[in-house]
Amino acid sequence: MNITILGPGAVGSLYAYKLHLAGHSISLWGRTSSSKIEVTLDDGESIAFNNQSLEDLERCDLLVVTVKAWQVKSALLPLLTHLHPDAIILFLHNGMGTVDSLSEQLAHRPVLLGTSTHGALKVNSSTVHHTGIGQTLIGAWNKKGQQCEFVAEVFDHGFSPAQWHSIIQQALWTKLVINCAINPLTAILDCRNGQLANHEYREQLFSIVKEAVTCARFDGVELDAPVLLDTVVNVAKSTAQNYSSMHQDIYNKRQSEIDFINGYVVNIATKHHVDIPNNLSLYQKIKQIEASWSQHD
Ligand code: PAF
Repeated sequence: MNITILGPGAVGSLYAYKLHLAGHSISLWGRTSSSKIEVTLDDGESIAFNNQSLEDLERCDLLVVTVKAWQVKSALLPLLTHLHPDAIILFLHNGMGTVDSLSEQLAHRPVLLGTSTHGALKVNSSTVHHTGIGQTLIGAWNKKGQQCEFVAEVFDHGFSPAQWHSIIQQALWTKLVINCAINPLTAILDCRNGQLANHEYREQLFSIVKEAVTCARFDGVELDAPVLLDTVVNVAKSTAQNYSSMHQDIYNKRQSEIDFINGYVVNIATKHHVDIPNNLSLYQKIKQIEASWSQHD
């Protein structure tokens, strides 16, 4: 397939490299204006991908969106006029709510939503480490997307394991709850994911999970809080040495994805007049940290 990856950060570069090795024609769309971007995965050979090639974009069959949630709208909108109307768009980023704000522009296109549990870390401008083997789950956002089940097979062949999920909202909410629990806490406590597996955090994690599960129900998704708490603790253990993406953003004074993680849950709770003090307090603390940079810098 002709695939363009919008957002060649750690995760985007990891998928680009793996799909290239599987024989697909991969082009990147990054912020830099240089015509090539080099990517090296672990000890592999360096690959020079085309960057910002309009020609590649116009003939691409699949656009994979891996930019940060808050960048989706501004990064994607200018590209839409160049995309073939049948080109499939797959959103593969942390957080929820980005596609809803673009529903008018995307309604007539085949759109997929995905979630990835692979760990990736960019150690310099061109080298990416695959720090944790995970999986990719893909499902349809709209009717046209329902006809694109083969995309999961393409990913499973190129970067296994990948699976089609007929109720992708369930998988997205599961990942959202994991991110609600791990990301802001690791950023605030300035710790690696593994620290949250300590018993002292169990009660706090369970409160965050239970609140998010209540909000998922308003979205028509039933989740099991004790099972999810186990999942959160297992993710913290299996990625023990990693700094979460929000930790990295806050540490480097970059805007985080809080609006699309705990902020997404807080919005649902506000709409339904439900109190979710734990998620609200994490949301407010991260917002305060972000606001303090513009005041002091
Ligand atoms: O955002 C992240 O860092 C990851 O989604 C996760 C699963 C929390 C692991 O670090």
